[in-house]
Amino acid sequence: MNDPRPLARVGVIGGGLMGREAASAFGRWCALTDVPVRAELTGVADVSETALGWFRQIPTVRRFATDYRDLLDDPEIDVIYCAIPHHLHESVYLDILDSGKDLLAEKPFGIDLAAARRIAARVVESGRFVRCSSEFPFVPGVQEVIKVAASGKLGRPIGVVSGFHHSSDLNPNKAVNWKRQVKHCGEIGVMGDLGMHVAHVPLRLGWKPRRVYAQLQKIYTERPDGKGGTAPCDTWDNALLHCEAEIDGQMVPMRWETKRLAPGATNTWFFEVLGTDLGARYSTAEPKTLWTFRREGDRQSWERIDLGFQTPFKTITGGIFEPGFPDILQQMWAAFLAERAGGLGDRFGCATPEEAVASHEVFAAALESQSTGRAVGLE
Ligand SMILES: NC(=O)c1ccc[n+]([C@@H]2O[C@H](COP(=O)([O-])OP(=O)(O)OC[C@H]3O[C@@H](n4cnc5c(N)ncnc54)[C@H](O)[C@@H]3O)[C@@H](O)[C@H]2O)c1
Repeated sequence: MNDPRPLARVGVIGGGLMGREAASAFGRWCALTDVPVRAELTGVADVSETALGWFRQIPTVRRFATDYRDLLDDPEIDVIYCAIPHHLHESVYLDILDSGKDLLAEKPFGIDLAAARRIAARVVESGRFVRCSSEFPFVPGVQEVIKVAASGKLGRPIGVVSGFHHSSDLNPNKAVNWKRQVKHCGEIGVMGDLGMHVAHVPLRLGWKPRRVYAQLQKIYTERPDGKGGTAPCDTWDNALLHCEAEIDGQMVPMRWETKRLAPGATNTWFFEVLGTDLGARYSTAEPKTLWTFRREGDRQSWERIDLGFQTPFKTITGGIFEPGFPDILQQMWAAFLAERAGGLGDRFGCATPEEAVASHEVFAAALESQSTGRAVGLE
């Protein structure tokens, strides 16, 4: 069949957890019924031969490289997805931009604020199309919460909570990895791992924190090194950011929560916005359930709605089924490539470099707040 849609040829740098998820999203691109582009995984680069080996089962991949520059020199690759440890983001992202390729960057978009600012400046100079990975806004329930938040009908805004909890680090016998060490993950620790996910929706709504008071915790300070000894585990495990943001003309409390040690939670993203007249609450722990609050006079009600597969980009999947992590990653990829091709329409777009820098500004303020014990103001 002759498909008239333009083809985006993607190269992945970093064939680990997220690189493989990207391959899976392209492998079932046929599930998308209204995306204006085709996508194909063409190349992969990883320093590990074992990581590269997994990609040998993907029939479209024709370039395997242990040096990522081989992908940058390949004229048959249009877009790079880069999913590597945080200390490498800046140098590799800059090389990608200098090569003239577009980029879906992984969060946190540089190991710290200074790196994020340098990357964002090069994005502007290069004129390339660049976005930062953040998939949760593409969950149908999250889209519904965003509509409530942006409706202008909250009444007097009362408060916002945006959170992301994991519990995979609760077992102290889990071996250390790069995400637990400042030199690879960054001083911001859990905020670098999970923070973009809680920042994206508030920032897109224009709710940038004006003031931040942080409570950061290092709960386990060492772990097995996987070789019979122990290794320092020096990143922040949990971060509670008590912020203030302007919402509908009022200064309102807003809490950003990122936790690696939240008992029982497995990749639980949640959001709540409450006003005196209207509000909404959603958590991926109950993926089909949307709660909406309404007040009319003295009458207050919470309505529970069962959601289905109402993803931003339509799919072959029946509307009654529930979406999961691989589905929303594919939706994010559809949004990235559609926006790149000028076909996003009124759908939600991926996080911008400006939003990634803004998230880093909040995390840098949180580090300052933690060390001074005071609230820190932001522009
Ligand atoms: N969007 C999300 O939901 C999500 C989830 C997890 C991780 N991430 C982000 O994705 C990125 C990667 O995380 P991950 O969990 O996939 O890590 P990972 O450790 O599973 O994979 C990283 C891969 O990068 C490779 N690598 C290291 N240096 C390299 C180099 N110089 N050139 C090429 N490859 C190199 C490693 O060999 C490894 O295979 C990080 O920025 C992380 O924050 C995003």
